Amino acid sequence: MEQWCSMNLLVVVLVVLLSLSLSALASGEAERGSACVVVEEIVWMANLPETTDWLRKVRREIHEYPELANEEFRTGELIGRELDELGVEHRLVGGTGVVATVGTGLPPFVGLRADMDALPIQELVEWEHKSRIDGRMHACGHDAHVSMLLGAAKILQTLENELQGTVVLIFQPAEEQGVGAIQMIEGGALEEVEAIFAMHTAYLYPTGVVASRPGEFLAGCGSFRAHISGANPQHSTDTILAASASIISLQSIISREADPLDSQVLSVSEFHGGSLLDSVPDTVVIGGTFRAFTKRSLDVLKQRIEEVIEGQATVHRCTAKLEFFERDHPPIPPTVNDERIYETALQTSREIVGEDHTRIAPRLMGSEDFAFYLDKVPGSFLLIGTMNETAESFYPPHSPYFAIDEAVLPIGAAIHAAFAYNYLHNAANNRER
Ligand SMILES: *[C@@H]1O[C@H](CO)[C@@H](O)[C@H](O)[C@H]1NC(C)=O
Ligand SMILES: [Zn+2]
Ligand SMILES: [Zn+2]
Repeated sequence: MEQWCSMNLLVVVLVVLLSLSLSALASGEAERGSACVVVEEIVWMANLPETTDWLRKVRREIHEYPELANEEFRTGELIGRELDELGVEHRLVGGTGVVATVGTGLPPFVGLRADMDALPIQELVEWEHKSRIDGRMHACGHDAHVSMLLGAAKILQTLENELQGTVVLIFQPAEEQGVGAIQMIEGGALEEVEAIFAMHTAYLYPTGVVASRPGEFLAGCGSFRAHISGANPQHSTDTILAASASIISLQSIISREADPLDSQVLSVSEFHGGSLLDSVPDTVVIGGTFRAFTKRSLDVLKQRIEEVIEGQATVHRCTAKLEFFERDHPPIPPTVNDERIYETALQTSREIVGEDHTRIAPRLMGSEDFAFYLDKVPGSFLLIGTMNETAESFYPPHSPYFAIDEAVLPIGAAIHAAFAYNYLHNAANNRER
């Protein structure tokens, strides 16, 4: 934080003058020089007191009025109101989502995405801007994500004449249910977009540190539920035993079948059945989650879950009906960062937080519906640290004590804006070559 907050107008002016004089010498060098100046200008704008105050105000208003997946009406209105204020064009997409555009209106188009939804959790943090809605809370940082993307809109709008293409800002609903990204894609949010970028706040990294990795990053995720029914309960077909045998057999899929170097998870997290002490229930319901880093492994897991539960049901003279929720909750694909877009994000991060604050993240077993965009266009996902003891920001997401160090807001706004600027700048340079 410190080292880039100390940027001041004088430095920007000096560097502008320097790059102007360089451009008189060699046009190729000046191109690169000026990109650097624009990123410095972006950081300077993000850290103006009027910008940081506004970023905090927006984030706090969203935090006070959390809305669940696909109910983000007030949040969508707030986004529209702020974009109007900035003079940025926008439209409603995918229900409560908003898509805004800044730039030439011509290709190339680069996408930036923030999610908007809150969670059915009662906030237990006592502070001035605590959730005003009982039982709902922004406990995953999506309030901060919206604020950071609005910050990028403000900065990019100021730089509109320097953009060598169009930035598409995607404010997406319903990430927590894993359906918002699909709604946005079906609503046309990705039309013409050739690359996309998103960030998630991360309590594992201190504020001012960012982390990502090329290739496989977050796991893909599916869920299943099986209804195991006794064909003939009065002849003692035991559904409890059939369900129990199924669960035991499911354990050997990861331990004995999966490649140990291809990390996977299969957890049974639900078991319902029975209410009497002297007879077995007609039906037992079991369900759970499965995760892997490739679509192929997810497909194999799904097939084996089905075979194992159906097989064990048959062994115990029961029948099993499997559900994988493919229509309402399609499995989330693995989040796989494109190497080239990752490089642009890495270059941008280094320029903004410094090389020493830029980390390689490990692969994580969590899932993100950002992966649906990555299924359509190349892109990259970045973790942005918010861990700060003083700001009491060290609880994991979805905790009722979750808090955000708001010092992250200008950093995130600057990274979003600079990524888009750099992407368009690099694309223009590549075309000239
Ligand atoms: C941590 O939080 C405190 C209190 O909000 C703030 O003053 C400080 O700048 C933050 N530290 C960093 C590294 O952002
Ligand atoms: Zn979440
Ligand atoms: Zn989240």
